[in-house]
Amino acid sequence: MLPHILLGLLPVALAAPAADPVTEAHPMITARATLTDRTPTKVQERDIISSIEGLGSYLSSVLGTFPSYVASGVPNFFQDFPTGTAVESSLGISSTDLAATPTQVLNLPNYGNWTDQGWNLRFRGNVYKQPSISESKLDELANIFLVGTSIEALPPAEQTQARNLTAEIFVVQQGGVNVSFHLEPASSQGADGTNAGSNATAPGGGSQNITLVGETTVEGDFDQFIPLANVSGPGGYLLPGNGTSELQRMNVYTDGTLTGNATSYLVPPTGLTIISDIDDILRVTRIYQPADGLLNSFAKAYTPWMNMPDLYANWSQSIPNFHFHYLTTTPEQVTRSYMNFIYKTYPGGSFDTRPLNFSDVSATLSIRKFLLEKIFQTYPQRQFILIADTSNSDVMKDYPAMATEFPGQVQCIFLRNTSATDSGDKFPYDTSGFQELNNQTYMFFLVPDDLTNLDIVNGQCVNTTIKQNITFSEQGLPFGLSKKSAAGRVESNWNAVLSTGLIVAFGVIFGVL
Ligand SMILES: *[C@@H]1O[C@H](CO)[C@@H](O)[C@H](O)[C@H]1NC(C)=O
Ligand SMILES: *[C@@H]1O[C@H](CO)[C@@H](O)[C@H](O)[C@H]1NC(C)=O
Ligand SMILES: *[C@@H]1O[C@H](CO)[C@@H](O)[C@H](O)[C@H]1NC(C)=O
Ligand SMILES: *[C@@H]1O[C@H](CO)[C@@H](O)[C@H](O)[C@H]1NC(C)=O
Ligand SMILES: *[C@@H]1O[C@H](CO)[C@@H](O)[C@H](O)[C@H]1NC(C)=O
Ligand SMILES: *[C@@H]1O[C@H](CO)[C@@H](O)[C@H](O)[C@H]1NC(C)=O
Ligand SMILES: *[C@@H]1O[C@H](CO)[C@@H](O)[C@H](O)[C@H]1NC(C)=O
Ligand SMILES: *[C@@H]1O[C@H](CO)[C@@H](O)[C@H](O)[C@H]1NC(C)=O
Ligand SMILES: *[C@@H]1O[C@H](CO)[C@@H](O)[C@H](O)[C@H]1NC(C)=O
Ligand SMILES: *[C@@H]1O[C@H](CO)[C@@H](O)[C@H](O)[C@H]1NC(C)=O
Ligand SMILES: *[C@@H]1O[C@H](CO)[C@@H](O)[C@H](O)[C@H]1NC(C)=O
Ligand SMILES: *[C@@H]1O[C@H](CO)[C@@H](O)[C@H](O)[C@H]1NC(C)=O
Repeated sequence: MLPHILLGLLPVALAAPAADPVTEAHPMITARATLTDRTPTKVQERDIISSIEGLGSYLSSVLGTFPSYVASGVPNFFQDFPTGTAVESSLGISSTDLAATPTQVLNLPNYGNWTDQGWNLRFRGNVYKQPSISESKLDELANIFLVGTSIEALPPAEQTQARNLTAEIFVVQQGGVNVSFHLEPASSQGADGTNAGSNATAPGGGSQNITLVGETTVEGDFDQFIPLANVSGPGGYLLPGNGTSELQRMNVYTDGTLTGNATSYLVPPTGLTIISDIDDILRVTRIYQPADGLLNSFAKAYTPWMNMPDLYANWSQSIPNFHFHYLTTTPEQVTRSYMNFIYKTYPGGSFDTRPLNFSDVSATLSIRKFLLEKIFQTYPQRQFILIADTSNSDVMKDYPAMATEFPGQVQCIFLRNTSATDSGDKFPYDTSGFQELNNQTYMFFLVPDDLTNLDIVNGQCVNTTIKQNITFSEQGLPFGLSKKSAAGRVESNWNAVLSTGLIVAFGVIFGVL
């Protein structure tokens, strides 16, 4: 089946492409596109896909223009979550009602580096209000995201989850707000009650108040590095980054709300950091099967992928001072759901999701690279393990690009080949980015066990028992099919997708909001 490919056509057809091409060398934070400029254009005629060759060239033209938009996963199903006034007007909320609701703060667990001025900690998050939305309205909104089913048809637990996530999406971001924090050394318990993990130590001191420079952006976001003062506490001081190889944990409490707690990590200049994607590597999402992907993201409880939690637990316990950083391009609005799952299931660590000003089509193409470059630039002497799955076209480009851009810093790249393990994924993936890399530094794998017993600390990245099959080109197309049957399947699935109402769903999002 190829419904995911066809799903890829929908945004292309419905959203007017941004006028400016994205220049790879300069991923910029661009202003988000307005919701009104998405003139729906006519859906492509299906005879464009008349043979497997036609499909191949069609895909490469689509992938060439809109790589991550088309293929980088569930988040891109939901390219245009409404924000700010769009939420207010779509829900008919009065500004006085909204003013009466408390301000909440999403505070992302972050990382800090050691500089000439001492510790320098990143503060990143979003300030918003949660309007009160009636259950019937929530159901109506949730049904936009549920394709081929409706909230009424789901079991009660899934209904709750779908409403919860929908409520998290329909929030009103608060621009122009001053944000301040209170920092405390963290014990093994995270600020949000979760296990902070990662074998990091609690520093002896460092309690202090921090006020961000300037107000939140129009989207309610903040993202800045602030130097920490070296203040003593009952147990002494923060350890200097050049005098320890340990990670130190700090609880970061946002002032004026109980919703903005996080545990951040002071990470020394040298050592090993893992940057881990989440969908289809740490949890079962099946982003390449849209109906499944939507249901798994919106209604079903998040499920770990196989025994990945055991592997990460082992790494956390056996690798000294291993820094875990979770980096996903899922939209910021659903961060809390992702964090709830990760911190219950995997070691504690810092977290990155897609900031709101990366919400428009062209900016989405560069978000992963922007976030990767930010952490690499913060630690010019650390080594990185990068892990994800092959269904993200941005991963397939950006992970190997890090090895070229930051020579000597990428220790291992691990990619779960979802095409090889899940017959539902016939989506092609492009391995050309790996051609120039030392083939001892990356591995495509099938199951978590393939990564066990690898000495990743000493650069053993390859399990020689796992056949690689890399062509350094686009691969993973359903070659087993004859031209004729392949084309036939494409057509029937195209019709199937049309009838699932996805277009209606996107139409509602673009048209109503
Ligand atoms: C550690 O870093 C601080 C600040 O950059 C510097 O003053 C100090 O000399 C360094 N200590 C060592 C042992 O390198
Ligand atoms: C969603 O569920 C989480 C955890 O169950 C809860 O903390 C959060 O407040 C809920 N969010 C909304 C908007 O109901
Ligand atoms: C934020 O803080 C600055 C500096 O203290 C102040 O000038 C400004 O009025 C504050 N903004 C708001 C919205 O309170
Ligand atoms: C945040 O921390 C404060 C202070 O410890 C605590 O009272 C509050 O319950 C915490 N909030 C959450 C959501 O855990
Ligand atoms: C931080 O601010 C609080 C009041 O908001 C105050 O009670 C406390 O003493 C301050 N702490 C430090 C270390 O300045
Ligand atoms: C803070 O100052 C104390 C006392 O001078 C020193 O021992 C410690 O290394 C310093 N820590 C940091 C993080 O600079
Ligand atoms: C991490 O902590 C666990 C549990 O406290 C311990 O068993 C393990 O040896 C520690 N690992 C390292 C590398 O310090
Ligand atoms: C610390 O991180 C900041 C932000 O990424 C970066 O600009 C700076 O160069 C880093 N400092 C060091 C000493 O690595
Ligand atoms: C890695 O590259 C070397 C030399 O370029 C080649 O001999 C070897 O077969 C390659 N290994 C794999 C697993 O592809
Ligand atoms: C390589 O190809 C073999 C034979 O088709 C397949 O069984 C295996 O899963 C593939 N390995 C990877 C990592 O894709
Ligand atoms: C390699 O993969 C196999 C199969 O998943 C696994 O049993 C083994 O532990 C892995 N590690 C090494 C170093 O062989
Ligand atoms: C756990 O990790 C250690 C060190 O990386 C490794 O030696 C050991 O084989 C791992 N065990 C499993 C079951 O993966």
